[in-house]
Amino acid sequence: MRVRAQRRAPGLCDALRAPALAPHLRLHLDQGDASQRIDLRALLAERAPGTHLYVCGPGGFMQAVRDASAHWPEDALHAEYFAAPTDANTTTGLPFMLKLARRGISVPVAADQTAVDALHEVGIDIPVSCQQGLCGTCVVEGDGEGAEHRDFCLTGSERRHKVALCCSRAKGTELVLQL
Ligand code: FES
Repeated sequence: MRVRAQRRAPGLCDALRAPALAPHLRLHLDQGDASQRIDLRALLAERAPGTHLYVCGPGGFMQAVRDASAHWPEDALHAEYFAAPTDANTTTGLPFMLKLARRGISVPVAADQTAVDALHEVGIDIPVSCQQGLCGTCVVEGDGEGAEHRDFCLTGSERRHKVALCCSRAKGTELVLQL
């Protein structure tokens, strides 16, 4: 019987060790020598013009990055969460009306209902994936200024004209969407 050696598929570490990336790579670990741990406040104290920050990880780390970069422009931070924070409220709130500008109709959203579910009830299906405000699949154009944003995916400027319908609600009694 011949046993064929299995070749390991290239992983993330292999990709990071590639010549194009390796000179720019620094690893910081929570465990081990304290001197190699990341100092987010020092790292993010200055921002060169045009620099963008992309962050992904567990909730505590994400919040620490947000805190340390609070003085950066809101659109310079791009975050991708593993999961919505456990205290996130993605469904309940006050009832409101969705005003669909293109169709010229209004759709009521009950206190315990999401906008996606309310639209589904009247035959309008919004694509969804995570249903926690993380992925952006359900985002539509609309009056972002009138929305109570509960997502974790839109940037500050996107929130002015976009709404994640799986979780966000109206600030008041009505929310206008370009649907
Ligand atoms: S379905 Fe993922 S953000 Fe709404």
